[in-house]
Amino acid sequence: LPAPSFWKNERGSELFVLSANSGAIQGTFTNHAHGFACQDIPYPASGAVSPRGLYFVVTFAQCNSFTRWVGKINGSKMPTSWTLFYVDQNGKPSKLKGADTFTRVW
Ligand code: BTN
Repeated sequence: LPAPSFWKNERGSELFVLSANSGAIQGTFTNHAHGFACQDIPYPASGAVSPRGLYFVVTFAQCNSFTRWVGKINGSKMPTSWTLFYVDQNGKPSKLKGADTFTRVW
């Protein structure tokens, strides 16, 4: 994973990879996706990358939630699947799954 690098997904959210030293990813993620909370704030992102794939995790502190993305880098594309862990209105720990494709901007 090139570092520094900057990626954007189809929802408009941004991943800035500050470093990927010996496989450990550090950066920030800014959510801009419609229908989600905790928008427009850069949150710390951390994870790991290897030739076989990568994952990264973002904790949305003000939302009591976090998301884990798992995927692969393929040229300037990074298709991922994600799981958002949150607490629902009844206080029940819940999950939401989806997919994001990130495109390298620089
Ligand atoms: C929340 O609503 O609890 C925090 C924001 C979650 C944003 C999710 S993470 C997966 C999906 N991809 C995005 O770019 N944004 C949403």
